[in-house]
Amino acid sequence: MERSVRLKSFELVARDINDADVELLHALSISVGWPHRPKDWDFLRRVGRGLVAVDGIGRVFGSAMWFPHGDDFATIGVVITTPRAQAQGGGRWLMEQVLEQCGDRNLALNATHAAYPLYVSLGFTTEAIVYMRQGEVPQTLSTMPALDGELQAQSMDGLEEITALDARAFGTNRERLLALLSAGATICTLSRGGEIVGYSMRREFGRGHVIGPIVARNDEDAVHLTAVHLRDLSGRFVRVDTREKDGMFAEFLQQSGLGVAETVTTMSKGRRFLNRETGESWIYGLAGHALS
Ligand SMILES: CC(C)(COP(=O)(O)OP(=O)(O)OC[C@H]1O[C@@H](n2cnc3c(N)ncnc32)[C@H](O)[C@@H]1OP(=O)(O)O)[C@@H](O)C(=O)NCCC(=O)NCCS
Repeated sequence: MERSVRLKSFELVARDINDADVELLHALSISVGWPHRPKDWDFLRRVGRGLVAVDGIGRVFGSAMWFPHGDDFATIGVVITTPRAQAQGGGRWLMEQVLEQCGDRNLALNATHAAYPLYVSLGFTTEAIVYMRQGEVPQTLSTMPALDGELQAQSMDGLEEITALDARAFGTNRERLLALLSAGATICTLSRGGEIVGYSMRREFGRGHVIGPIVARNDEDAVHLTAVHLRDLSGRFVRVDTREKDGMFAEFLQQSGLGVAETVTTMSKGRRFLNRETGESWIYGLAGHALS
C-alpha cells in the first residue's frame, strides 16, 4: 500500500538578494529553465537591487529585482518563484515589495506569459512584444546592405558619447548600467561625419553570447552593428532580444540562425516607456530581458 503524509507548510521571509548564496540563485533560475549562470546573477546584483524569499534554513524559493536609472525610472526583472511554490501568492508578495522599494519611479519590464496576469493586476500596461531570438551562428552571413559610415571597435574611453546616444534611444540615461556592461563587453560604434550614430555591445551570457544593447537609426545600421559581432561568433550560440517584428533587421537575424525562441511583453507603469521617433536612434537590441 502506498504511504503518504501531508507536511506542515513552511514560512518564507524576505531577505536582501545580496545576502543569498549565488549557487542558490542559480538553482532557482535553473528550476524555471532560465539560462543564467552564477556570473550572470552576480552581474545583475551589481547592477540592481532586490530580494529573495527564503525558508528557515536559508533555501531560496523566489526572487525579484529592480534596476534603477536615476531617481525617476527603473526596470524590473528576474521575478521567479520556484515551481513547487508557485500559485500560492509568493510572486505577488515579492512584487509588492519591489514596487514599494521602487517608490514613485516610472517602471518598465518584460513579462513572460506566466507573469503577464500578475503584472496586469498590479497596474502595468502593455506596450510591445519582444522577440527573444537565439541560435547557432552560421559560417557565412547573408548579403548585407551597403555600409553608410564607419564601424569601429570602441574602448571604454568613448563611453560618454555612447551614453548620450543611448539616452536618446532609451528615453532615460542609463550611464551606470552601460559602464558596468562595458567592462565585460566588446563594443562597436558606427560613425558618420565624425558623429557616433549607433553602437552595439556583446557579452557572454547564459549558453553563449548576448548582442545588446544595439542602438541604431535605421535597419541597415542595426544590421551592420550586429553583423560585426556575428562574424566573430560563427558556430557559437548567440541571443538577441528585439522588438522588431519584421523588416530588414528581423529578417537578417532569422537568416543568421537566430530564430524566435519565445516572446515576452514589454509593459510599463507610470509614464509611457517606448517612444520611437522617425530618424532618431532606437533600441534595436535589448541590454537583456531583465534590463530592457
Ligand atoms: C510568474 C511567477 C513569478 C508567478 O509566481 P507565483 O508565485 O506563482 O505568483 P502568485 O501565486 O503570486 O500568483 C500571481 C498571479 O499569477 C496568476 N497565476 C499564478 N499561478 C497561476 C496558475 N497556475 N494559473 C493561472 N494563473 C496563475 C494569477 O493571476 C495570480 O493572481 P491572484 O493572486 O489574483 O491569484 C512564476 O510563475 C514563475 O516564476 N514563473 C517562471 C519565471 C517567470 O516567468 N518569471 C516572470 C519573469 S517576467
